[in-house]
Amino acid sequence: MAQAGPHTPQVKLLDLHPPADDFARDVLDGLSESPRALSPKYFYDARGSHLFDRITELPEYYVTRTELAIMEAAMPDIAARVGPDASVIEFGAGSGQKTRRLLAGLDAPISYVPVEISRDHLMSAAQAIAEEFPDIEVLPVCADFTQPFNLPQPARMPVRNLVYFPGSTIGNFPKPEAIDLLRVMYTEAAQGGALLIGVDLRKDRARLEPAYDDAAGVTAEFNLNLLARINRELDADFDLDRFRHEATWNPDDGRIEIRLVSMVKQSVEIAGRPFRFASGETILTEYSHKYDLGEFASMAREAGFAVEKVWLDDDRLFSIQLLTRS
Ligand code: TRP
Repeated sequence: MAQAGPHTPQVKLLDLHPPADDFARDVLDGLSESPRALSPKYFYDARGSHLFDRITELPEYYVTRTELAIMEAAMPDIAARVGPDASVIEFGAGSGQKTRRLLAGLDAPISYVPVEISRDHLMSAAQAIAEEFPDIEVLPVCADFTQPFNLPQPARMPVRNLVYFPGSTIGNFPKPEAIDLLRVMYTEAAQGGALLIGVDLRKDRARLEPAYDDAAGVTAEFNLNLLARINRELDADFDLDRFRHEATWNPDDGRIEIRLVSMVKQSVEIAGRPFRFASGETILTEYSHKYDLGEFASMAREAGFAVEKVWLDDDRLFSIQLLTRS
């Protein structure tokens, strides 16, 4: 590790040793299911992370810029409600604009605790925040945040915990799992704590589908990169010209469904095993649930939270919500 100088604060990792991913096993199992599915957690290799950064800047992808604008406008109110000397516990390691905005806008937060399964991503994000915010104690935790975990103890006692979960990542979980995750956040918020969460809202198909299938084709490339990654890492021969990206709004289940569609009848070999695809056969790669305010409030209540405040943009595309332990 590099020598710590006055301008490179060292951050101390709490490593809870989450089990390593088994990419090969998960791919072979997922493609053997009916319908076939691949876990969205595998989108984010180096190329996938780069493509996702480009998605957040697409004109059709309203999510990131709308959340940032709401955050910008709501920050004084958020800071007043949270109060001084909080500990911010982020589910996932953010070093982006949203995390920086929150830490800069709160009233003298004591500590920042990013919780993230990818050790490398966690440490580089934590180090970047520590350098930018020398007065905040940065205490990264390497763990699978879907299960309850022990928090590190900051040097000074925080007044309350503020769990932070931006980006509407909650929408990527099926509803029962989303409620389970809210329950974990309730536990980690602890007595007197709160959750600040980004929740994307139900809206017209005409707005939703292009957000997940943009004109420039970046989202298609992002989705197809999953097959390219399988080719690169698992000795497979997916022909990327014979699969296409599809994003469909399912109004009954309130979600965007993202799939890869086999355009022809074909056979693919992965690690020596053949997989036969019919023409039109699909691989599910992600759900992105959209909620209305009442529906999300009842999920929050099921997990023990009360909705203290909801901030919206003028077009009511997206919400940032402050949930408190009731
Ligand atoms: N959490 C993001 C969302 O649901 C992830 C995402 C955006 C995504 N675009 C995508 C996932 C396209 C798969 C494909 O909004």
